[in-house]
Amino acid sequence: MIKLNGVTKKYNIGMPNELTALNNINIEIKEGEMIAIMGTSGAGKSTLMHIIGCIDNSTEGSYFFGNTQINKLSEGRLSKFRNESIGILLQDFALLNDETALQNVLTPLYFNKTPLIKMKTTAREALAMVGVEELETQKVGTMSGGQKQRVALARALVNSPSIILADEPTGALDSKTADEIMGLLVDLNKKGVTVIIVTHDNKIAGYCKRIIEIADGIICIDRNLGDDCIVTEEIL
Ligand SMILES: Nc1ncnc2c1ncn2[C@@H]1O[C@H](COP(=O)(O)OP(=O)(O)O)[C@@H](O)[C@H]1O
Ligand SMILES: [Mg+2]
Repeated sequence: MIKLNGVTKKYNIGMPNELTALNNINIEIKEGEMIAIMGTSGAGKSTLMHIIGCIDNSTEGSYFFGNTQINKLSEGRLSKFRNESIGILLQDFALLNDETALQNVLTPLYFNKTPLIKMKTTAREALAMVGVEELETQKVGTMSGGQKQRVALARALVNSPSIILADEPTGALDSKTADEIMGLLVDLNKKGVTVIIVTHDNKIAGYCKRIIEIADGIICIDRNLGDDCIVTEEIL
C-alpha cells in the first residue's frame, strides 16, 4: 500500500544549520497494519509522519501510495489525495476551539461537492462512531482533553480514509483516557483502516503489531510482533 524508497529529508539546505532529519528511509506498509513509530525526541518521527501524511515533501527518494507516486503529484492533486485518503490526529488536537464539534468535523467535507444536509449526516455518524454525538453543538474550547481527541478522531475519519496517522495522540491525556483513544484506534484498525502511531510510550506501542524505531533519522528496528503480542521494555 505504502512504499518509501530512499527517503531523505534535509532542513535548511545549504545553510550552516543544514540538518538531515531522515536519512535513506526504506519502508513498506501493507493495508490493515497497525504500526508504532518510536524513538527519542528529535529522532525524526514527526518528519516521517509528515511525509507519509503528505504534509511535507522529502528531499530525495520516492513515495508510492498504491500505484500513485505521491512525490510527483501537483499541489492540487496532493491536497485532494490527502483529504480523501489520510486522517491525521495530533497531540494538541489542532481543532478550532471557538467552533462546535459538528463544525470541526464538517471541515474536511467542504472539499467535496456534497449537499450540506448530507455532510451533516456524515459528520454526525463520525461523532457517533467515537461516542461523542451528544457533544455536537458544544464548543470544542469547553471540552476535556479526551473529548477533544474524540472530536479530532471523528474529523480524521469523516472522509473514510484508508490510513490514520497519529502523532503522539495520547501525549496530552491521562492514562485511562489514553486507553480509550487507543481502543478506538484498535477498533478502526479491525475494520481495515491502516493505523500508524508515533509514540515514545511502550504501553501505547503495545497496542500495535509492528514497531519501527528511528534513531538519528535512520530506522534501527523494524519488528513484526504478530497478533496479541504486548511489547515490554525488555524486548525494545
Ligand atoms: N521545520 C524544521 N526546520 C528545521 N529543522 C527541523 C524542522 N522540523 C524538525 N526539524 C529537526 O529535525 C529533527 C527531527 O525532528 P522531528 O521529526 O520533529 O523529531 P521527533 O518527532 O522524533 O521528535 C530534529 O533535529 C528537529 O530539530
Ligand atoms: Mg515529534
